[in-house]
Amino acid sequence: MGALALAATVAAGAEEPGEKLFFSYCAACHRYDGQEMGEAPPLEEAEWVTGPESRLIRIVMHGLTGRIVVRGETHDREMPGFGEILDDEKLAELLSFVRRHFGEPSPAISVEAVKKVRQADSGRSRYWTVEELER
Ligand code: HEC
Repeated sequence: MGALALAATVAAGAEEPGEKLFFSYCAACHRYDGQEMGEAPPLEEAEWVTGPESRLIRIVMHGLTGRIVVRGETHDREMPGFGEILDDEKLAELLSFVRRHFGEPSPAISVEAVKKVRQADSGRSRYWTVEELER
């Protein structure tokens, strides 16, 4: 089964809004529960999921490029941003699901936190690099 067909099958069983959003926008590239769906680095217990919430919000808002170390392995690919497709409420629901599912027990992400990041980075159009995120 192709990644998208698999994602669609699993999405049909999704119950909460954040989970549905995850399947629609993330699961084609990121692995879910051990299923190999794409070549993106893992989210499970990743320091980028459990770490500072503003970093996670920024990655998903504007995308990411360049070298990144995830659980001790280096990746160097590209991820698009979703800030223009998903509003603050949807991003908060989606990222709260991601934190709950992959980064237990990381706290949920509020709509206010997403709004703050969107405002702070409003002039931005380029993808983030790890160097910038760690500044
Ligand atoms: C088109 C494929 C693609 C999609 C869709 C995608 N990502 Fe990614 N993602 C990547 C790649 C590739 C990287 C690594 C980028 C790099 O090497 O600089 C990444 C990196 C990440 C990271 C940091 C590294 C890690 O694994 O912890 C997080 C967090 C993340 N993505 C979350 C998400 C979320 C949440 C979504 C859904 C809104 C999503 N991604 C959608 C491809 C994708």
